[in-house]
Amino acid sequence: MEHEQSRRLGKRCVILIVIVVLIVISAVVFGLTLKSAFESTFLSRCEKFDQYDCKKVWDAFQQAYVNKDPCKVPVEAYDPLIAAAPFKPQCNRMMFWSKTKDVVHGFTEKRDCFVTLEDTLLGSVLDGLTWCGKEGSKDTNTTGCPGWSDCENNTVRSFWIRASAAFADVACGNVTAMLNGSINTPFNPTSIFASVEVPRFIASRVKNLNVVMVIQKNNISNCTDPSLKNLRQSIDTGITFSCKDVSESRIQECGSKPQIACRTCW
Ligand SMILES: *[C@@H]1O[C@H](CO)[C@@H](O)[C@H](O)[C@H]1NC(C)=O
Ligand SMILES: *[C@@H]1O[C@H](CO)[C@@H](O)[C@H](O)[C@H]1NC(C)=O
Ligand SMILES: *[C@@H]1O[C@H](CO)[C@@H](O)[C@H](O)[C@H]1NC(C)=O
Ligand SMILES: *[C@@H]1O[C@H](CO)[C@@H](O)[C@H](O)[C@H]1NC(C)=O
Ligand SMILES: *[C@@H]1O[C@H](CO)[C@@H](O)[C@H](O)[C@H]1NC(C)=O
Ligand SMILES: *[C@@H]1O[C@H](CO)[C@@H](O)[C@H](O)[C@H]1NC(C)=O
Repeated sequence: MEHEQSRRLGKRCVILIVIVVLIVISAVVFGLTLKSAFESTFLSRCEKFDQYDCKKVWDAFQQAYVNKDPCKVPVEAYDPLIAAAPFKPQCNRMMFWSKTKDVVHGFTEKRDCFVTLEDTLLGSVLDGLTWCGKEGSKDTNTTGCPGWSDCENNTVRSFWIRASAAFADVACGNVTAMLNGSINTPFNPTSIFASVEVPRFIASRVKNLNVVMVIQKNNISNCTDPSLKNLRQSIDTGITFSCKDVSESRIQECGSKPQIACRTCW
């Protein structure tokens, strides 16, 4: 009789364990399938970097915009994200750019000479992506989000302003900026470079600001452009300014020939 009871108890125990295991497995599977393509992209890009807890970074990222009107995400909403994945100063290697995105990344991808915002954890994770939230929802939307200029405090733009500010805050030593010689105003006061980054270069950290003016076939300006005088005048006194016209082909050559030393590219 006692024997019979304990055997039944044992059977129940096994059934219970099987049920628990099934629940755990289905929860894991459900959890995985629930992960959106956006979150997967975020995490897989993030995991290329060591020393960061990507789940923590994802959580800090989400709290900036989830359950909010996509036009009501101020720049400060990303402060906790920056705190969760702080930028590290990389003196003498930091590269800023304005209207030269493809050329500058074509170069930094091939050579380990300079680091742009898009080569850092947060910059590379979110480069080229669109995201926003929605009031009353905990989802991330990747379609139907406001465009860059549709509203001031939009989800994506506020991120890039906050990240650019944080990247410029740690700029140090010899700082380089690639500007575009195929446009009328290479140093445009409305650009993120002019309005967010340059004002954060402080002489106690930044020694030189070296502009590389990218000269293409359709060049219409160069280092003598009046906007460059404005740049020279707007930087903190104590930072040495220089500007050099460099052909696009020279930048590409330096990108593809590792035997050319970084400091002799231009
Ligand atoms: C954007 O957010 C800032 C706070 O960071 C606020 O002062 C400003 O009024 C907002 N602009 C608009 C158009 O809502
Ligand atoms: C400079 O700007 C022009 C016009 O927007 C663009 O066509 C060109 O690709 C840019 N140059 C570089 C080096 O990015
Ligand atoms: C994303 O936004 C579009 C357009 O506003 C909307 O139709 C769609 O339902 C939203 N998707 C989610 C998951 O919120
Ligand atoms: C700073 O960078 C410029 C241009 O890349 C280079 O000519 C110069 O030698 C560098 N100076 C120092 C102190 O590294
Ligand atoms: C354009 O580039 C060519 C070749 O470097 C140069 O001779 C010419 O003066 C440049 N034009 C302008 C407007 O900078
Ligand atoms: C720079 O541009 C000016 C006019 O914009 C032109 O006259 C001059 O030749 C250019 N200089 C170089 C070195 O390309």
